[in-house]
Amino acid sequence: MYLTKEEEEMLNSDNETLAKAMEIIVKIGEIFNAEKLVKIKSAHISGISYQNIGDEGLEWLESLNARVRVKTTVNPCGMDLERWKEFVDYEFYEKQMRILNALKRIGAELTLTCTPYYLYKPEFGDHIAWAESSAVVYANSLIGARTNRESGISALASAITGRTPYYGLHIKQNRAPTVLVKVKGDLSLAGYRAGLELQNEIPYFVFDRSVAEYELKLLAASLAATGNIAMFHAEGITPEWRDFEKPRERVEIEAKFERSCEVDLIAIGCPHVSKEELRLILKLLRGRSVKRNLWIFCSRSLVERSYEIVKKLEELGVRIYCDTCIVVSPIVKRFECVMTNSGKALAYLPKLSGVDVVFADLKTCIEVAVE
Ligand code: F3S
Repeated sequence: MYLTKEEEEMLNSDNETLAKAMEIIVKIGEIFNAEKLVKIKSAHISGISYQNIGDEGLEWLESLNARVRVKTTVNPCGMDLERWKEFVDYEFYEKQMRILNALKRIGAELTLTCTPYYLYKPEFGDHIAWAESSAVVYANSLIGARTNRESGISALASAITGRTPYYGLHIKQNRAPTVLVKVKGDLSLAGYRAGLELQNEIPYFVFDRSVAEYELKLLAASLAATGNIAMFHAEGITPEWRDFEKPRERVEIEAKFERSCEVDLIAIGCPHVSKEELRLILKLLRGRSVKRNLWIFCSRSLVERSYEIVKKLEELGVRIYCDTCIVVSPIVKRFECVMTNSGKALAYLPKLSGVDVVFADLKTCIEVAVE
């Protein structure tokens, strides 16, 4: 694989962290037969909850001795930083804070959200190295930025070197759709089913109605959760839908969900909600107070920018949490049956936390919350 002089220097650097990071990037490039590396505009690091990486991950992060070269954002952690006592014990808190301090020390921004594109939007055609599969699908599909599905470690190595191997979705011709998919019903649930069925494809979706941005975000997340999908096209919507030949093979997906249990928590915000979703939830509540636990997860930056809406939601009994989520925090283990509008949470929660999960669209979730 071709390396520039600067990249060779990083590989042979006396700084062990930098040399190791470059070694990781080069190894990945060799595995995927990349001809060269490409400069990236940003990196997004996932897997930073103490629940997921434990003491080993914490010690490794604390051992890093280099700074990131590009804008670097990070995924949610295991607790709300201001209301951590509601989530975790002191030992967890202290270790989670050490993880965050280690990331801050190398220059990462503690955005603590899986929707970094609401804070800073890459441009069409930008090469980026993002972990967090839902954000990868969003960036490739809805923005037209270019990233493969990175792991937490490869995204961190890219942040430190400012490079990623040039293969996969960084190359335009690899972004062509491979299967045409007609979808009926809720997009989040359709994504859950499509991911299971299509695995490694690049779907070209045709919807039977107009869809909102937040629905496409939920679709992106659930596709990536049940399948190995990193990108989709949506006819008439996504920026590259016209750039390739329309695939011939057709699949029809009808989103249906039938399981039920006695709901003790309704969780919205996987991925973290947008301001539009906060507004929509407030509208759907129509001034009614919630009678069950209705929790919304979003970025702290969004809460700060949406003070009026957040205040009204909290007055109706909705709890809004930042910096964390229902999957990466241990809190969900206190509940038995969670209702969610997220196909990703539907895929992960039963496996990771052993709770029962029922799926419903946003409107139904809100109606159940006020029952
Ligand atoms: Fe985000 Fe957590 Fe879901 S990181 S996509 S809210 S699992």
